[in-house]
Amino acid sequence: MLTALHALVYSDDPAATRRFFSEVLRRPFVSEGERGDPSDWLIFRTGPSELGVHPTQEGEWSAPRHHSLSLICDDLDATMAELAARGAGFTGVPRELGFGRGVLLQVPGADDLLLYQPAHATAHDLPAGHGAHEPTEATGTHRGTRMPVTEPEWEQHYAPEAIWSGNPNGALVAEVTDLGPGRVVDVGCGEGADAVWLAGRGWRVTAFDVADAALERGRAAAEAAGVAVDWVRAGLLSSELEAGSFDLVTACYPALQRTPERLAEQALLALAAPGGRVLMLAHADVDRATALEHGFDPDDYLDPDDLVAAASDGWTIERHERRPRSIEGGAGAGHHTDIVLVLRRTGADS
Ligand SMILES: C[S@@+](CC[C@H](N)C(=O)[O-])C[C@H]1O[C@@H](n2cnc3c(N)ncnc32)[C@H](O)[C@@H]1O
Repeated sequence: MLTALHALVYSDDPAATRRFFSEVLRRPFVSEGERGDPSDWLIFRTGPSELGVHPTQEGEWSAPRHHSLSLICDDLDATMAELAARGAGFTGVPRELGFGRGVLLQVPGADDLLLYQPAHATAHDLPAGHGAHEPTEATGTHRGTRMPVTEPEWEQHYAPEAIWSGNPNGALVAEVTDLGPGRVVDVGCGEGADAVWLAGRGWRVTAFDVADAALERGRAAAEAAGVAVDWVRAGLLSSELEAGSFDLVTACYPALQRTPERLAEQALLALAAPGGRVLMLAHADVDRATALEHGFDPDDYLDPDDLVAAASDGWTIERHERRPRSIEGGAGAGHHTDIVLVLRRTGADS
């Protein structure tokens, strides 16, 4: 598991540079030596961090391949005044930089650091994750990244390490516990905790997702639990699963794209057998403005109301309610309320 970013400053006068970080920037530190003063190898706490990737070549722009450090502040003028009062010097005056307003902060013994007040979206203040659950709780972010959209993005999102807790979703457990087992399909199953739980309760489970890396973790979990699950790499619209063949269709925080033709809604409903149910879980009260700042527009994604609208004929709403949820740690911990929807295919066409 990755734990932190470790940055290095190469200095002609390390003691002066360390003194600057300690006394002017007032960074707490640990010492790799006995003395614990700037003549020792000190390691400074940097506080929250974020990382961008810029091209070495783009149009007229070019830069050598390198890494670069900047400091971010909330108010450039106030921060400059505060640092100047502790002896900091600056090269030049503050400038508009396109991505924010900044100035070069002089670092004794080393190169200047850019100090800036960003005008861009920031990642350092994202919650630990922003998906359905938590990182190595088995999500959102998520890895505090933009919400993945395409299949390769989901694949990449899952690749480095487990995202979710490995525990089944609480609302799914509550809704399904009293149902007799049958055939179930888990749409957008992620790392398979729900699928494994369902299989353990005697359900014949098909679980599909667009990300192989997630399915691999599901396979391993199923093996460890000694249960059988049919894992399928597929997208909802491209899956070749037989329509009308599942007693239960589950879609937990499924991140399915809305389309004008309502394709995702129709595909989900089509999977249910006559008399079968569709269970959808979604996060309630997602703040659109905050989500947009993090590159994710909730309006692009299917929500339970879309499914209700698409299920007007031949369907009964068994449950459509808000329910508190409690998840400790990980990416989903920021979400405190679920929307729980259970539809049952009861109409004449069933
Ligand atoms: C927020 S995660 C939820 C995962 C899982 N249901 C859970 O509750 O932990 C959304 C999942 O949907 C998958 N996904 C996104 N688009 C999909 C699509 N069109 N068809 C199937 N799965 C999709 C993603 O790969 C991701 O695993």
